[in-house]
Amino acid sequence: MSTQRFLTGITTSGEPHLGNYVGAIRPAIAASRAANVESFYFLADYHALIKIDDPARIQRSTLEIAASFLAAGLDPRRVTFYRQSDIPEVTELTWLLTCVTGKGLLNRAHAYKAAVDKNSAAGMDPDADVTAGLFMYPVLMSADILMFNAHKVPVGRDQVQHIEMARDIAQRFNHLYGEHFVLPQAVIEESVAVLPGLDGRKMSKSYDNSIPLFAPRAQLQKLIAGIVTDSRAPGEPKDTEGSALFQIYQAFANTQETAALAKAYADGISWADAKQALLERIDQEIAPMRQTYQTLMADPGQIETILREGATKARDLSAPFVARLRHAVGLRNLAALSTQPKETRATKSELAVFKQYREADGKFYFKLVDARGRVLLQSAGHDSPKDAGQRIKALQSLEPAALAAMEALLPRDSDASVAAAVDALQRLRDAA
Ligand code: TRP
Repeated sequence: MSTQRFLTGITTSGEPHLGNYVGAIRPAIAASRAANVESFYFLADYHALIKIDDPARIQRSTLEIAASFLAAGLDPRRVTFYRQSDIPEVTELTWLLTCVTGKGLLNRAHAYKAAVDKNSAAGMDPDADVTAGLFMYPVLMSADILMFNAHKVPVGRDQVQHIEMARDIAQRFNHLYGEHFVLPQAVIEESVAVLPGLDGRKMSKSYDNSIPLFAPRAQLQKLIAGIVTDSRAPGEPKDTEGSALFQIYQAFANTQETAALAKAYADGISWADAKQALLERIDQEIAPMRQTYQTLMADPGQIETILREGATKARDLSAPFVARLRHAVGLRNLAALSTQPKETRATKSELAVFKQYREADGKFYFKLVDARGRVLLQSAGHDSPKDAGQRIKALQSLEPAALAAMEALLPRDSDASVAAAVDALQRLRDAA
């Protein structure tokens, strides 16, 4: 099976809670360990700006969510883990996509429509307090996904429409400018629990019913004590059905443990004892991570470094890809257009060429040299001329994988750039 690319973003708008852990963090980390999977996880801080105008909260949440993923076992060497706003190509792609996105498509987005309906129902201007950011939310999210040509996007149900929009937008772009984007698919994990909160409704910041993921044990105990139960006395059988306490337990326990608690319910366990069992079960899983979390939170500089390394990996892909997209839509080097009559346009002498040669070390090399003799790319040594030739071919065909590795071919001590090399390759291809 070929490698499938998974990508998902987490909006940096608050402190992660147990519901985020069970519903997103834990499954994401488990998925990242599977074979034949390449994972991209990022902190969606541009998206957070749509909802939040408190700079300190954005910064704090970014730190907390990053630390939570790392503490829960995410391996940043295995996964491309980055912060959205570290990738300037995301905003660039957002504009390219904006220009092929129907306004009507965005009018139909659930989040925007809900805001408009609420205003209308209140007798207000339909767009009162609706920012253009909220309206554009699906385009920014499409850029996140399409930038890395993700096949699969694990999300909650509320996000499925956004993935469908990303497909529509990608299709439109591909139709106009050629096949650049993979059409992404939403993945909804049916088996992943939607965790109830303290009051029994879905655990959510906005219901104020959540348990912070890394609350200290004493606070965890206090919050668990506040989970709503019915008034049945110790000794009376209890229903597991509709019991928030039971559902939270189930999200952490294995089958046998869950069965044992179900039996204890039937046997009339007291709510106090059931709550104690829940505390112990959660703490068993979370306590070791809590340690790591606290260590990480005490050293934000380390997290900053990890995120920047992730951004470097991500940009190795996004920078050449956006260079290719710019060319595709016509944002091009003007020198490529000769003022000469058509017959003599883009003559061979104006194009870059690949030069292949052998060095004293016996290895086979190539370089891409432009018309002025400037070296745009410089290969490492290959064992055979065939290997070198294949690499050249991959570059000429502008394959994403070849473009992704291009950074490593830039000659040092020059102003060579990925963008210049991609541009030269595009011109070569256009002239062929
Ligand atoms: N909108 C998503 C959410 O609120 C977060 C997000 C931003 C995202 N960009 C994404 C998810 C790209 C998946 C893919 O949950």
